[in-house]
Amino acid sequence: MKIAVVGTGYVGLVSGACFAEMGVEVTCVDIDREKIEGLKKGVIPIYEPGLKNLVVRNHEANRLHFTTDLPSVLNDMDMVFIAVGTPSEDDGTADLSQVMTVAQTIADHMTTPLLIVTKSTVPVGTSFKVRDLIRKRLDERGMNDLTFDVASNPEFLKEGAAVSDFMSPDRVVVGVETEHAKELMTRLYRPFLLNNFRVIFMDILSAEMTKYASNAMLATRISFMNDVANLCERVGADVNMVRRGMGSDSRIGRSFLYPGCGYGGSCFPKDIRALIKTAEDYGYEMRVIKAVEEVNDRQKEVLFDKLSNYFEGKLQGKTVAVWGLSFKPETDDVREAPSLTLIRALLKAGVAVRAYDPAAMEEARRSLGDTIYYATDIYDAANGTDALIVPTEWKEFRLPNWSILSKIMNTRLVIDGRNIYNRDELASHGFDYSGIGQK
Ligand SMILES: NC(=O)c1ccc[n+]([C@@H]2O[C@H](COP(=O)([O-])OP(=O)(O)OC[C@H]3O[C@@H](n4cnc5c(N)ncnc54)[C@H](O)[C@@H]3O)[C@@H](O)[C@H]2O)c1
Repeated sequence: MKIAVVGTGYVGLVSGACFAEMGVEVTCVDIDREKIEGLKKGVIPIYEPGLKNLVVRNHEANRLHFTTDLPSVLNDMDMVFIAVGTPSEDDGTADLSQVMTVAQTIADHMTTPLLIVTKSTVPVGTSFKVRDLIRKRLDERGMNDLTFDVASNPEFLKEGAAVSDFMSPDRVVVGVETEHAKELMTRLYRPFLLNNFRVIFMDILSAEMTKYASNAMLATRISFMNDVANLCERVGADVNMVRRGMGSDSRIGRSFLYPGCGYGGSCFPKDIRALIKTAEDYGYEMRVIKAVEEVNDRQKEVLFDKLSNYFEGKLQGKTVAVWGLSFKPETDDVREAPSLTLIRALLKAGVAVRAYDPAAMEEARRSLGDTIYYATDIYDAANGTDALIVPTEWKEFRLPNWSILSKIMNTRLVIDGRNIYNRDELASHGFDYSGIGQK
């Protein structure tokens, strides 16, 4: 089986490498020449555990190829996956220009039957737009007899665990219109699900909707818990206890009940906005999801507010350590990260920032430039600071040497955006502590 994956980002590169690992011959396509040349030499453009090995091994085994030239490989393929970006426009609409550009290239150059699969997260109805565009163009080219199928195969991998998620998915959702498409997709995914075959086939519109509904549900759980946490602080309850009590109810479950300083990343924020917009386009108001977004925007300000309250608004001239810049651990992705909201607010208030992240320093620099100090490690970041704020719960932050920190910091204050520390332990080293949803 031969497939092309167009768009070699988090989703495209991981999918391509994992399909190749299962013996499929994969060509990853991107318009970014530097990225493709780098990949040919084993340079991985993103930080993702386990990915480098997979890419290098399969490239060397001649199962994983890289190119910028989609037309040249198109007609040698059984399937083409579209895995390009779908960022937000100003009004929240998903920008489909990258998806439609790829569809146009396929339409202009295909000469053999193909299955075209949308893997990007796209609003309901997009796969049909792709289908209609290609059909129209083929007809214009006088290729009325050339057949093709479309399918929707939304991706559910998590950054930071993308390879393991892709290799052992909870389920694979596939929207199809024809038996042929169903057969091809079944064949492609069989190796991943040998033990417990869980491809859920459905119609294309439902598959597209499933992706948004899933992300919206996960974001809802986060915002719900943040709302509960904020109330816990006010009434004197401890959200860590509340979370355990709630999560052990099998109807509720434990996942995604962790309060914090808001969700970020390249998916939840934009997908929530796109869902709200899709509903508006259909004359419907998604009130729950709108509240989810509002709560999240407010939650991203919580860490700054805690600092400001501690110093009674007198922040000018202070210096703060920020541990963690990526939107979550095990990734270098800083898109819509709570750390960026925090740092921008700190800088605006005249606070100097000393930041450290195990993987995302370079990415953060692209957004923040030279406005902050990029530290070499957690202790360098904390040196001479008036507070330590932790927006991202990287493992290496979990057990720092508090004795050292108590000596090198000016003020012993820790603001814990992910509830990874213990108040009593910190108190024993003379630190004031403020977590989320605790007194
Ligand atoms: N990142 C995630 O965790 C994740 C998870 C599930 C779904 N998704 C969805 O998958 C899609 C891709 O996300 P991503 O994070 O991988 O994006 P990304 O920004 O990391 O990668 C997109 C890639 O597409 C390339 N590209 C753009 N236009 C192109 C074109 N015309 N031809 C070839 N390549 C082109 C870009 O150069 C880039 O390398 C989005 O719709 C996203 O919502 C992402």
